[in-house]
Amino acid sequence: MAIATAVDRTDAEGVIVPEKIVIAAALPGAPYDRFAEHHELVLPSDGIVMESDELADALEGATALVPLLIHRVDAALLDRAPGLRIVANVAVGYDNVDVAAATERSVLVTNTPDVLTEATADLAWALMLGLARELIPNDRYLREGRYQRWLPGALLGADVFGRTLGIVGLGRIGQAVARRAKGFGMRVLYHQPRRLDRASEEKFDARWVVLEELLAESDFVSLHCPLRKSTHHLMDADALAQMKPTAYLVNTARGPVVDEKELANALEAGTIAGAGLDVYEHEPAVEPTLLPQTRAVLLPHVGSATRSTREAMARLAVEAVDDLLAGRRPKHPVNPEVLP
Ligand code: GLV
Repeated sequence: MAIATAVDRTDAEGVIVPEKIVIAAALPGAPYDRFAEHHELVLPSDGIVMESDELADALEGATALVPLLIHRVDAALLDRAPGLRIVANVAVGYDNVDVAAATERSVLVTNTPDVLTEATADLAWALMLGLARELIPNDRYLREGRYQRWLPGALLGADVFGRTLGIVGLGRIGQAVARRAKGFGMRVLYHQPRRLDRASEEKFDARWVVLEELLAESDFVSLHCPLRKSTHHLMDADALAQMKPTAYLVNTARGPVVDEKELANALEAGTIAGAGLDVYEHEPAVEPTLLPQTRAVLLPHVGSATRSTREAMARLAVEAVDDLLAGRRPKHPVNPEVLP
């Protein structure tokens, strides 16, 4: 099914017919302001973000929706707007959108890849370095006035340089993490269902291994796979048990890739050395048994949270709407089959 002609509609006098564009959250740089000249722009009533009820009401009669990853865009929501033509998700991941339901309704879904790759890779590295060198416990130690003298056997962390990094999902962000590993002299292993070609493996100096081998060999396991049925609880009790007791787990991908309860158990029992999480199974809720774990660094989903990255994501999502309304092909279609 193809989307109906996607050109700004004009009336008999050539004046653009206003379309309803729903922006579900205020975005850095507010690149959608320009829509207000010709279109009906609907923004959150609190100036921050729409809750699901407000979003459902706002969507009636809408042509375009720009949601966040926290907005569940399912069949019921899509049915509130039979004239909807585009869902421009402000995220690279789009597990919050029922893409099959959108496709059935000829609604284009777009995402915001590339612009957040480096910022997210930086954060994965921040977690690895922070865990290995115990930045948070050491900071706390100093502020609590416990730094009385320098002792050679105290506050010892783990090495990063020269160790083994296991990357689960060597896509854009996984590759950016692998590039940084070269500077740290690391051996890089990766796992994903489809092996990369030899040239790419050479470029990233990464060796494909089965997941079991990656878990058993790595000093740092960093997750960069999308959330799918096949990756849900990929890191379950069994997988965690295959990691070395000296190894660290980092998750900047999606929360449900890790079984949080089992991770808390592993941290409590000391069967792994630590975990750095930026994402959670039921965000913004965090598994309560994770909170007391001092071997964990817990961040509030800030992988892409640099000003320039968030502005670029906002611009890309809004551009997708602009492109569609102007009859151009949006840059990052998730379900291109609905395009003419
Ligand atoms: C962030 O988690 C994203 O998918 O962009």
